[in-house]
Amino acid sequence: MRRRDAAGLNEHTVSQTDITREHLIETYRKKAKHYDITSRLYPVPGYPQRTQRLRAVQALGLRKGDTVIDMACGTGLNFPLLQQAVGPGGRIVGVDLTDAMLARAQDRIEANSWINVSLVQADAAGFDFPAEVDAILSTYALTQVPECAGVIAHGAAALCGGGRWVVLDLKVPGSTPEWLTQLGTAIVRPFASVDEWIMRRPWEAIRAAMQEELSDLSWAELFFGTAFLAAGSRGPGKTGGDQ
Ligand SMILES: C[S@@+](CC[C@H](N)C(=O)[O-])C[C@H]1O[C@@H](n2cnc3c(N)ncnc32)[C@H](O)[C@@H]1O
Repeated sequence: MRRRDAAGLNEHTVSQTDITREHLIETYRKKAKHYDITSRLYPVPGYPQRTQRLRAVQALGLRKGDTVIDMACGTGLNFPLLQQAVGPGGRIVGVDLTDAMLARAQDRIEANSWINVSLVQADAAGFDFPAEVDAILSTYALTQVPECAGVIAHGAAALCGGGRWVVLDLKVPGSTPEWLTQLGTAIVRPFASVDEWIMRRPWEAIRAAMQEELSDLSWAELFFGTAFLAAGSRGPGKTGGDQ
């Protein structure tokens, strides 16, 4: 697609990926203010999101003083759990595409007087991971990133030997009839093209990439197959920055 700039002077090409990304940012800008409340109803009221987050953070195997990246961190709902695990001597880096979500995350940091949390506004697909990080987490976000397999690979290359990559996200249960899948995801994923998400089956790409890039991959289906928790380590002897 070709578009004119704001002044109407120059035309430039806008890819479908750019349009999808702009739509996603716009959607999360609208959600940001009330996200901490509304996300408790995500994907449906009563969903055991808190329990799943706890499991994901436990799977990171963090120690005091570790550095952890929270990829697509949103408003920083994982930060309290990560803080508990790494302590004041550790470091948390939150990365997200949407300015308004990061603004809420910044409010959380200031409200808690945390001085060991930094935020980066970036697309996960192009994020330049710092070398030698101890762990990377992504919750309820990575399946929204079309280049999710590449993000797994880049992150794995940045981990220190033994460092952990953990992904928690939603998926379509294996044995669900197609019509129910369409209905369910239409309800829980109003922000994106539901059909595209179902067709793309990003959880499979994430699983394959983690299998490829990490050792000892574990894969657990949660809550009747509506979510997955995937975790793996960078093999020993490898150093951050290896490709
Ligand atoms: C459902 S929210 C999850 C936020 C947080 N991880 C949580 O568990 O509450 C999805 C987040 O992913 C972010 N996001 C989506 N695509 C992204 C991308 N390509 N790069 C970075 N962040 C992205 C959105 O801005 C949004 O904050």
